[in-house]
Amino acid sequence: MKKYDYLIVGAGLFGAVFAHEATKKGKTCLVIDKRGHIGGNIYTEEVEGIQVHRYGAHIFHTSRKDVWEYINQFAEFNHFVNSPIAVYKDELYNLPFNMNTFHQLWGVKTPAQAKAKIQEQIARMHITHPKNLEEQALALVGQDVYEKLIEGYTRKQWGRECKDLPSFIIKRLPLRYTYDNNYFKDPYQGIPKGGYTRIIKKMLEGVQVCLNTDFFANKKELMDQAEKVLFTGMIDEFYDYCYGELEYRSLRFETETLEMGNYQGNAVVNYTDYEVPYTRIIEHKHFEFGTQPKTVITREYPAAWEKGREPYYPVNDPKNSELFDKYERKALEEKKVLFGGRLGMYRYMDMDQVIEEALAMAETELAYEEE
Ligand code: FDA
Repeated sequence: MKKYDYLIVGAGLFGAVFAHEATKKGKTCLVIDKRGHIGGNIYTEEVEGIQVHRYGAHIFHTSRKDVWEYINQFAEFNHFVNSPIAVYKDELYNLPFNMNTFHQLWGVKTPAQAKAKIQEQIARMHITHPKNLEEQALALVGQDVYEKLIEGYTRKQWGRECKDLPSFIIKRLPLRYTYDNNYFKDPYQGIPKGGYTRIIKKMLEGVQVCLNTDFFANKKELMDQAEKVLFTGMIDEFYDYCYGELEYRSLRFETETLEMGNYQGNAVVNYTDYEVPYTRIIEHKHFEFGTQPKTVITREYPAAWEKGREPYYPVNDPKNSELFDKYERKALEEKKVLFGGRLGMYRYMDMDQVIEEALAMAETELAYEEE
């Protein structure tokens, strides 16, 4: 008999949910992570009494009542609503694109006036079959919204001109004809009081966790200790890149503590102008309505990905999707290894989707194990 029922590679949200469910069912789990902390990318740490989102702004939102109830077992959530601001040169706009934005752009006051303005701009473009992202965006929202709020931001994010990006990246660009700055449409939204790390800590209560432990440094010994493995790292790395490397976009974060109580008056401010090198500034205290004397801000810079850098966003274009299919087919043949999470499944997922997927995997896997 092996020492553990499950070796779980990755102490992020996916690994933690699975470990929690397996432990509840009486299974023994060893969770390892190559980082020096639990939580993966949702890790938060306290600085000056403020919960700092080390790997970018994380706002929990979901349309699923069961997922909301699940996460609420581990934390109390506040009533934070994400209402980002966009800065374009010396102009300021509300996001997502809504009546406030349209009023700020053109002085229009009614939905009919806003619709007429946008339709007039779209019609002027004469784009019937968008060939690239620029044409797609112009055909959906017209010139002003595109030029001031989409073009520079998207170019920075992808490191390429919008003309050179495929149109499928933007399938739809919701335009909201109400005065509503709530970014998410989901009925459940908030920030966990005291940060996300606490949630993961609670999920991992009673589970053995080894940090600063890279799976690949001791793959065989680690695998030999467990009946089964859940791997939430990069699937191509697991297979030693046998079919080639999957591509990602990366990010760079610059965090600063400032000797002032309030820097920008909002948790998230996007910089949509190409000339500003970062895409957004996060002021962490505003996620929790903080009143601390100091403040902590993070500038988020898009970055090209290369081995050794943190892979943030999978590039789900046809080339990478085809490559991932090959790895996925190989993964399906595994008897002992399961793949999960954003890197194991090579898919961008919000936290609620991660919970949903991890619970589904736990349900299938643990029911099967019980038979
Ligand atoms: P995650 O990457 O968190 O965990 C995987 C873990 O495996 C990592 O800790 C890693 O160190 C470890 N690992 C990898 N390889 C290993 C190895 N070889 N050996 C040991 N350990 C290894 N979602 C949302 O709902 N609202 C939001 O506002 C945001 N915001 C947001 C901003 C940014 C900038 C990004 C990139 C993403 C978001 N998200 C989000 C998405 C959210 O971050 C995501 O859903 C979860 O963090 C994914 O959890 P996972 O466990 O899948 O991966």
